[in-house]
Amino acid sequence: MNTNNIKPVKRIAILTSGGDAPGMNAAIRAIVIAAQHYQIAVIGFYAGFNGLIDYVSMPLGVKDVANIIHKGGTILKSARCPAMKTSLGIAQATSTLLKEKIDALIVIGGDGSFAGSLALHKQWSGQVIGIPATIDNDIDGTDFTIGFSTAINTAIEAIDKIRDTAEAFERIFIVELMGRNSGHITFNVGVACAAEQVISFENFAANNQATGEQEKLLTLAKEIKLAQANRHASYIIVIAENVWQGGASVLAQQLQALANIDCTACILGHIQRGGSPVAKDRILATKLGVGAVQSLIAGKSNIMIAEQNNAIADVALPTAIMHQQGVSESLIQAQENILALTAQRLC
Ligand code: F6P
Repeated sequence: MNTNNIKPVKRIAILTSGGDAPGMNAAIRAIVIAAQHYQIAVIGFYAGFNGLIDYVSMPLGVKDVANIIHKGGTILKSARCPAMKTSLGIAQATSTLLKEKIDALIVIGGDGSFAGSLALHKQWSGQVIGIPATIDNDIDGTDFTIGFSTAINTAIEAIDKIRDTAEAFERIFIVELMGRNSGHITFNVGVACAAEQVISFENFAANNQATGEQEKLLTLAKEIKLAQANRHASYIIVIAENVWQGGASVLAQQLQALANIDCTACILGHIQRGGSPVAKDRILATKLGVGAVQSLIAGKSNIMIAEQNNAIADVALPTAIMHQQGVSESLIQAQENILALTAQRLC
């Protein structure tokens, strides 16, 4: 690349968008510090793309990002923004970027946020870079997204506690985990908690949902009865949200109705989104934040800044949202062919 042709970056806009993820603040901090290092001004926009549309912003300096690396949520607030799916919304966002004389925009968020970034990139001539931050880990081209590690640790901690009660009372729990349409959280947490059953998109996909659920219900009831007969004290089923019609509560009712099996449904919900980021998320967010500023200076645009095999990489934004990168096949196979089977036989 001929660096003489690269337009100098003087003003960067940043925003956090979509579901908040632990580590978003660490990413904001890294961007602001790196920008200051290269003498670039940073303007933060509030509540995702809404801040661009409604023109709600503040300049961000190093003092503004002191003592935030350990905080969950995002100091810039976040939101989903349906208006970015309309030409009016994109025009308003573009107009704000032009009025503010912004050279480059960094969007910290997940697939919906990157779709908004792509739409904006078509209308606005400035540089656009995405930083992957979502607890769902459903972004292609990066080993992990910011927030995923914290979310699975939070869920593991919660399920370990549920296990104590399940053990003490010889009870069966069905724990529903977040992830929207992706099983990264469910599979990883299920394995890490030694769940007796993991039900997720990767191992439960039926052409006909109702028939598939009926068949699964029958095997599930059989396996639970077998485990109970073997005096297996506790039994934990983890299930991905949106994989079963009606979720964990309906599954519990169905097991009761079919085979008189008492299960307690527990929906972990938004507890998985909050909390202080674990070391892995703070470090990932810091690397990606610094990497994003350096990529902008190098003239890059329309990319997501990612981590692949411990190195910073660029991924085309359209590639990042293709949803091709599933849960590790070896993890699925280990759970399905070895761990789950052994769990059924244990006394
Ligand atoms: O994308 C993050 C996520 O927490 C998903 O796991 C979940 O399906 C969704 O957001 C929940 O969204 P909301 O907080 O808007 O209900």
